[in-house]
Amino acid sequence: MGFMDEVRKAGATIKRACKDIFDAPFVREMCDTADNMYRLGWDERNGGNISYLLDEKEVGEYLDLNDVKRTIPLMGVNAANFDVSSLVGKIFLVTGTGKYFKNVKADPETNLGIVRIAEDKKGVELLWGYKDGGRPTSELPSHLMCHAARLAVDPENRVIMHSHPTHTLAMNYVHELDEKKFTHTLWEMCTECIVVFPDGVGILPWMLCGTDEIGVATSKKMHDFRLVVWAMHGIYGAGKTMDETFGLIETVEKAAQIYMLTAHLPRVNTIKDEDMVKLVELFGVKYRKDFLDLK
Ligand code: 13P
Ligand code: ZN
Repeated sequence: MGFMDEVRKAGATIKRACKDIFDAPFVREMCDTADNMYRLGWDERNGGNISYLLDEKEVGEYLDLNDVKRTIPLMGVNAANFDVSSLVGKIFLVTGTGKYFKNVKADPETNLGIVRIAEDKKGVELLWGYKDGGRPTSELPSHLMCHAARLAVDPENRVIMHSHPTHTLAMNYVHELDEKKFTHTLWEMCTECIVVFPDGVGILPWMLCGTDEIGVATSKKMHDFRLVVWAMHGIYGAGKTMDETFGLIETVEKAAQIYMLTAHLPRVNTIKDEDMVKLVELFGVKYRKDFLDLK
């Protein structure tokens, strides 16, 4: 290879490593999603958090993966019931604790961080973000346990999203918190619900958030459900893409809104269980048959 070829090759490498992180599709997606969630009133103040499993090669086009800015210990983690061995070395884009979704789009470098799960599993290595000395969401233990749980059943899962959607939360106060009954009510509220979340909605009783206990409980539910309600707090969603995960929560929230608009009125019409079966058969989806009351 001649001298000029060497120069060209080196230039290409530098150019690749120097792609602007602010233009990275995963950063843009995160900004747009947080913005939408705020705009919809789901995430007041610092409510809600998102973690997005990234492709190492893709991140390497934007950041020097050997340049660890600092190591951040994982708080609230009791090693006995917190096993993220399967995630060691994996890189996540994560919202910061105490950060407002309202502000993510205008200043992603302060409100978001890109972290890699450290070899010792006790902390994360910061590769970018949390510019003001911040740290990942207090729910990171829950998110990581959910990622591990979802990846075990769906190797393509990438996103865990937590939010406080208004009508879903309102419904928690007036509807029985039974997984079958809650899911059934949601399925009845919009024709497409059973097709969008045929696996239904898991429910946890009120628990202290930010702890590994709620993380373990949520991740156990995530073996069966992509949606888990945290009673009187909010919801967790999991999916392959940001759109899919957002769409799951959006559909539950829409159904909960219709429920809250109609629950106090006499019910004249409803979608019958037999009709729901026709829908899942048409769309060819596997669903929680035991959540329907079929004769
Ligand atoms: P963080 O600010 O730590 O992400 O917490 C927000 C929240 O919704 C807790 O459940
Ligand atoms: Zn919350």
